[in-house]
Formats: sequence, structure tokens, C-alpha cells
Amino acid sequence: MADATDNTFDVIVIGSGPGGYVCAIRAAQLGLKTACVERRETLGGTCLNIGCIPSKALLQASEKYEEAAKHLGAFGVKVGKVGLDLDAMMGHKDKVVEANVKGVEFLFKKNGVTWLKGAGKLTAADTVEVAGTAYKADKGIVIATGSSSTPLPNVPVDEQSIVTSTGALTLPKVPKHLVVIGGGYIGLEMGSVWARLGAKVTVVEFLDRILPGMDGEVSKQMQRILGRQGMSFKLSTKVTGAKPNKKGVAVTVEPAAGGEAETIDADVVLLSIGRVPHTDGLQLDVAGVEMDERGRVKTDERFRTNVPGIYAIGDVIAGPMLAHKAEEEGVAVAELLAGQAGHVNYDAIPGVVYTAPEVAQVGKTEEELKAAGVAYRTGKFPFTANGRARAMDATDGFVKILADAKTDRVLGVHIVGAEAGTMIAECAMAIEFGASAEDIARTCHAHPTLNEAVKEAALAVDKRPLHL
Ligand code: FAD
Ligand code: NAI
Repeated sequence: MADATDNTFDVIVIGSGPGGYVCAIRAAQLGLKTACVERRETLGGTCLNIGCIPSKALLQASEKYEEAAKHLGAFGVKVGKVGLDLDAMMGHKDKVVEANVKGVEFLFKKNGVTWLKGAGKLTAADTVEVAGTAYKADKGIVIATGSSSTPLPNVPVDEQSIVTSTGALTLPKVPKHLVVIGGGYIGLEMGSVWARLGAKVTVVEFLDRILPGMDGEVSKQMQRILGRQGMSFKLSTKVTGAKPNKKGVAVTVEPAAGGEAETIDADVVLLSIGRVPHTDGLQLDVAGVEMDERGRVKTDERFRTNVPGIYAIGDVIAGPMLAHKAEEEGVAVAELLAGQAGHVNYDAIPGVVYTAPEVAQVGKTEEELKAAGVAYRTGKFPFTANGRARAMDATDGFVKILADAKTDRVLGVHIVGAEAGTMIAECAMAIEFGASAEDIARTCHAHPTLNEAVKEAALAVDKRPLHL
């Protein structure tokens, strides 16, 4: 065990996002003397400061605004003229962020994790330098430095009129026309926020569908629903430049396959075409840590880099760039460092897009199963046939379960619907436990709940739904 009085720790984690802070807490729980390096003023990384948490605070707030303005009448609730206080809405978001980042600071104190404030750089395979002081790690250094927004040539981000998600979380007024580059997670979530608050939103997507990593039926249905909500889509289109002018920003686009260019006038442009791993200033080269062709830190299945004693987790390595994936890896690496058998099941990591309705998935898409030549059966159940969804006036969407044709094992679940992100938890557990569709179908689901649609989709795999 490392000496408690010097600058030597068992474990030093670089970065305090959901990967890093969870890893540090788990390592400390396991009795390891642990430090976490963070250069930001507050703990929690991208997710808590400028990602998951503030975006969900704005999604929730804008949904309430839209509900009051447009939907309460359907329930017989009369409201007067609904107004928007954007400053108060931003205040709500800031308070939520503050409570969350302070919560991590509290958890560090509670678990005895030392926060080393400043940027960390590797000076040897077992040494991290922070603010001019060298700290040694006896058991391991864990790189958890996350990711940042992918830049696009000729689209100069100023976080005022051409913004990344960070600027889109703090716009001082509702833009008249928001052009979103990229129809993925950020584009659809932040596009939804500003569309609900009154902006015209145009999404320019390079590929021929939005949400390209998701099941094809889900993408189609979501484009229809978001279109109905007022979002416009320009698919198979590439942005060749964005130039700020007196009126706003001129965005030039052309067909992805080449062709005639056109200009779209926007007052704000959101660049959301993905994220790139962040390793600036870490001095990976000094320690000799290898990266892959996409700039990610190369790791094996035990999160080991090529340098003994240096590990990496979260957005900075391969795999989906999701907070809960980073957390699982953080726990696994801490357990491995403590001599336990930590591991992550990548087949059971859910993905959720927090639009309204939400999109949630776990496991394989139909396209992936087809490409792999797997024989599967499909069970689908629409929310129009679910009593609770009707009571909520939230009948958009469906649950789709893909199960192995021979064994009936659940291979993938795809949900479009209100609270899909909460519903997907039982499906992730089903995959984690190796459940069959029949296992889900035989599990008693409370009535009336949205989750009954999961049970019905499982019955539909065997062509025997009860309410369809
Ligand atoms: P990060 O959270 O990026 O944390 C890395 C930390 O390392 C940062 O605080 C950084 O300052 C610090 N750091 C970097 N280099 C150094 C250094 N040299 N020294 C010291 N510190 C350093 N995921 C979800 O699962 N659900 C969501 O709803 C969701 N919403 C999102 C919304 C937005 C707008 C964005 C941008 C992302 C969202 N994500 C969401 C993705 C999620 O934020 C990331 O997957 C997650 O934060 C990755 O965690 P991480 O620990 O790997 O890195
Ligand atoms: P994304 O990968 O989700 O979507 C990017 C989209 O941009 C894709 O549809 C892609 O085809 C398109 N694209 C790429 N290059 C383009 C170009 N030149 N022109 C037009 N379109 C282009 O990336 P996004 O939305 O930036 O989010 C980054 C990541 O952050 C996500 O992949 C996700 O991992 C994470 N995130 C997760 C959230 C959640 O869990 N709810 C919310 C927000 C972000």
C-alpha cells in the first residue's frame, strides 16, 4: 500500500468525467489510495458540466413549456397565455449542474479520493505531473480524458453564432433559424430544445438517414415524428462552409454525392457531427502509449494500453461515447487493479436519445443481424394499443424485439416512445441475463404501464400478442 504522506498513490486517474470519477470512487472503495486529476474548475467532466446533465435539464424544461403551451388542453386543463422566461430556464439548468458537480466533490471527500487540481501529463510510465509536482502511481494510471466536438473545415466555431453543443446550451435568445449539422444524438436533442422554444430548425445530414447507428425502422419513424413537430431535414447533404455575416450565418450545402450548391440563411449553426478523443497535452508519446488510426488510446479487453501500468477508459478509447459505458469501464478497471475480475458486457449497453418521444436501444439492430447472417424473429407492438400510453396521450412509437430464430434469445430491443429510456432497462437486463423473448413474455408486468408494450412485443415474437 502506498505511503499516505507522500505524493505516491496506488491509482491516479486522469480526468473526472463519468469514467474517471466512478473509477476513482470504486478504487477507493476497494481500499486503494486514489487520486483523480481534473483541470476543469469543477468535477464531473463533459457529462455533468456541458453534456448529459445540462442538456437533459433543458430538454425537460422545454418539454414542460411545450406541454403547457400545446398539450394540456387535451387533458381538459385550461391554461392562460404561456410565456417563456429563458433566463429562468437557464437558471434551472445551471442549478442542476451545480448540484451534480458538487455531489461528485462530496463523494470524493466521503471516499477519501484526492482531487489533484490542474492538467495532468505523463512524464513516465508510472508518473503524472500536475501543476509542476510529480505524483507516482504504484498500481496504475488510468487515462479518462474524454472527448471533444469534431471540427469541420470551413465551419469556424465561435460558440456565439456557430456553436458546438457547449454553445447550444447557453444561447442568450431563441434563434429564428437554427441550422444543425449532423442528425445524431446532439443534433436531435439540442434541435428539439430550440424547436420547442420557437426556433425553425433545419437538420443537414450527410447520410441518407438520421440516427445512422440505430435500427432503420427507428430512424424512419423518428424522422416522421420530428418532421411533424416542425423540424426539417436535408438528408444526403454536405455542408461545405458556414460564414458569419451581418444577418447571421450563411451555410453553403451541396448534395453529398456532389452537385449544385445552395445557401441556407441561419442565425445560429450547431455543429454536431460526432466527437473525437481528447489527448491534448497528456504527453502520451513521452510514456510511449500507442493510439489507433482514429486517435483513440489503444487498449485490450482489460483496458491495458501497450505500456504496463497505464490503462484507459471512456470516450478516449473505442466503443460508444456514452456516460454509462465510461462508468462501467471505470468500475471494471478499478476492480481489475484491486485484483478482482472486472469486465464489461458490450452487448448490453443501452443507448437513449432524449427527444420526445425518446428513442432507446440495446443489443443488435435488424441491419446488423442481417449483415451477420443471423436468423432472427421479430416481435413488434405499437403504443397506440397500450392503455397507459393512451391515458398519457403519448401513443407515438413502438417496441421491437429481435430474438434468435432457433434459441429465442433476445438479441436486440428498439423502442420509440415516451419514457423509452427508462423502459430499456428491463431489456438490457434481459440481454445481460441471456433471457429469451419467452422469459420476458412470462414475466408479470404491472398494469397499466408502458412496459406492458415490452411484454406484448415479446409475445409478438411468438406471434401471440394479446392486445393486438
Ligand atoms: P469526459 O466526461 O469527457 O471527462 C473527461 C474529463 O477529463 C474532462 O473533465 C476534462 O476536463 C478532463 N481532462 C482532459 N484532459 C485532462 C488532463 N490532461 N488533465 C486533467 N484533466 C483532463 N452520454 C450519455 O450516456 N447520456 C447522455 O444523455 C449524454 N448526453 C450528452 C450531451 C452532450 C451535449 C454531450 C457533449 C455528450 C453527451 N453524452 C451523453 C456523452 C457523455 O458526456 C460522454 O460519453 C462522457 O462524458 C464520457 O465520459 P469520460 O469520463 O470518458 O470523459
Ligand atoms: P453522432 O455521431 O451521434 O451524430 C453525428 C451525425 O452527424 C451522424 O448522423 C453523421 O452521419 C453526421 N455527420 C457526420 N459528418 C457530417 C457532415 N460533414 N455533414 C453532415 N452530417 C455529418 O454525434 P453527435 O450528435 O455530435 O454526438 C456525439 C456523441 O455524443 C454521440 O455519438 C453520443 O455518443 C454522445 N451523446 C450521447 C447522448 C445521449 O446518450 N443521449 C446525447 C448527446 C451526445
